[in-house]
Amino acid sequence: MDDDFFSVVKRQRACRRYLDKPVSDSLVEEVITAGTFAPSAENSQPWEFVVVRDKSLRDQIHDLAQRAWSGGGRDFSLRHLDEKILADVDDGISGGGYATAPVMIIVAGDTERCHPKAISASILPAIQNMLLAATALGLGSALTTITLGFASELQAIVALPDSVVPQAIIPLGFPARPLGPPRRESFSQHTHCDQFGNAWGQAQ
Ligand SMILES: Cc1cc2nc3c(=O)[nH]c(=O)nc-3n(C[C@H](O)[C@H](O)[C@H](O)COP(=O)(O)O)c2cc1C
Repeated sequence: MDDDFFSVVKRQRACRRYLDKPVSDSLVEEVITAGTFAPSAENSQPWEFVVVRDKSLRDQIHDLAQRAWSGGGRDFSLRHLDEKILADVDDGISGGGYATAPVMIIVAGDTERCHPKAISASILPAIQNMLLAATALGLGSALTTITLGFASELQAIVALPDSVVPQAIIPLGFPARPLGPPRRESFSQHTHCDQFGNAWGQAQ
């Protein structure tokens, strides 16, 4: 598979069902290492990663996602999500697809190392690096936040101290089916020249 940077960027997407195939520690380490090369406010590097392999813990985490999805998350998304993604998320959460991931990585931010207002902005670049690394390694992954509505329960499941706040859960494993290309609008639909409203490529 082509692991050229731009090829990886253009095929990265959410994987919501996984093969029953283990992921080695060395692959997990490569993914996390990529995360730690991300920028962070004041180079605070506030990330903490909990690699969850234990099935009963993974099931408890997945149960939180199911509660969040059925307890309002799905109804909220119905208004915005297109049909295909809704069906995929349904399969991942209600259908148990995410629970098939042999690894779940809880990515958390240490509020004692970074101003709480800068935590998300300091963790999301690390998460994106991890998603790209996973793709380059042939692994499926996803950025999921649905469970954060139950942050304190999640903290308890993986024994995070109060000051280390979960930011996302990344399921990791080998994809159960080809993901296909991401559907994205062209950059030119979102790019302006000098001032908003001057379409890129059409300015005088
Ligand atoms: C902030 C954020 C939160 C997300 N949370 C979830 C989630 O909780 N569950 C999920 O299945 N996907 C989640 N996603 C993945 C998006 O649904 C996905 O990136 C988007 O629909 C594009 O789909 P694609 O990756 O298949 O191209 C999240 C993405 C972002 C950026």
